[in-house]
Amino acid sequence: MSTITTQKVTFNVFRFNADEDYLPYYEKYEMDVTSEEVVLDVLNRIKWDHDGSFSYRRSCRHGICGTCAMKVNGRATLACKQSMNDMIDLYGNEMTLEPSSKKRAIKDLIIDKGDFWEKHAAVQPYLVADIDENPESENLVTPAQADALDEADLCIQCGACHYSCPVVEINEDFFGPAAFAKAYRFEADVRDNAGTERIAEMSAPSQGVWDCVKCFECQEACPKDINPIDKITKLHLMAFEKGVVKSNVASRHAVGFHHSIAKNGVLDEGGLVLYSEGPSIVKHLPVAARMFIKGKIVPPWGITKSDNLDEIKKLVESSSTAKF
Ligand code: SF4
Ligand code: SF4
Ligand code: FES
Repeated sequence: MSTITTQKVTFNVFRFNADEDYLPYYEKYEMDVTSEEVVLDVLNRIKWDHDGSFSYRRSCRHGICGTCAMKVNGRATLACKQSMNDMIDLYGNEMTLEPSSKKRAIKDLIIDKGDFWEKHAAVQPYLVADIDENPESENLVTPAQADALDEADLCIQCGACHYSCPVVEINEDFFGPAAFAKAYRFEADVRDNAGTERIAEMSAPSQGVWDCVKCFECQEACPKDINPIDKITKLHLMAFEKGVVKSNVASRHAVGFHHSIAKNGVLDEGGLVLYSEGPSIVKHLPVAARMFIKGKIVPPWGITKSDNLDEIKKLVESSSTAKF
């Protein structure tokens, strides 16, 4: 039988009222926290026992409505799923509670998720299909076809990945990881007839999957293990397969990577930049010179091919689903 323990924890809580405050501030609350509690219990107790004006969103308390997403010490957290025990193990007895996105705060931990929902709506988050309203039999999907969705349909729209994405922060056109996961969910559905329309939009410059910098923050942030970066990679492949990829630095980077591994069995960093950037490589020459001096890149004729090149070539061929 596990015993319930109690620890004193100091919470620095983000406070802001867009109607009254010019700048946000942090309020300190010292509380006894039991090993049974989750972060949402702490939020509730701050409101119920300390300050009734403290505001945050929650609804289901079971990790399915996605409303209680926030950040603890800068880390995306679904408050109703996250045990305080784990938080104390990770951060000790002092932590900062903040909204998912401070710049979108309206009232304390409540944010304006308007941009998130706009991006969601923009990816056609529904099945595009000419449905026979009086079908003679069911539209069957085999277990293998259902598996292809790869759990993308489990997304609870919490926005944790979206507001952890560095590209979303600096590029307001970028669809973001949650929208990509949603687009994948329908692109991978055998009943969807969107053709190339949705995937072409997912490939658009500045908005689409090619602007993802592959930092893996979305994978870290997702409380449902959707792994949005994996869906982004699959959308890359679908875009090649459906022939909608436009030649740009990011798509040439993917092609160059493939060519380099198929040719040498190892990555030719210098050649990859040359292939991706084309003539605009000139702007990278000072950096390239420094990398060359430090031995980080070698000229094309200096590449040492892998001893296992034949084996690697076979692997590249068997795993390539798209023609480059
Ligand atoms: S991997 Fe891509 S989509 Fe995910 S957080 Fe990083 S930049 Fe954003
Ligand atoms: S992919 Fe994960 S983190 Fe992103 S909105 Fe869906 S459930 Fe939340
Ligand atoms: S309250 Fe619904 S997911 Fe946390």
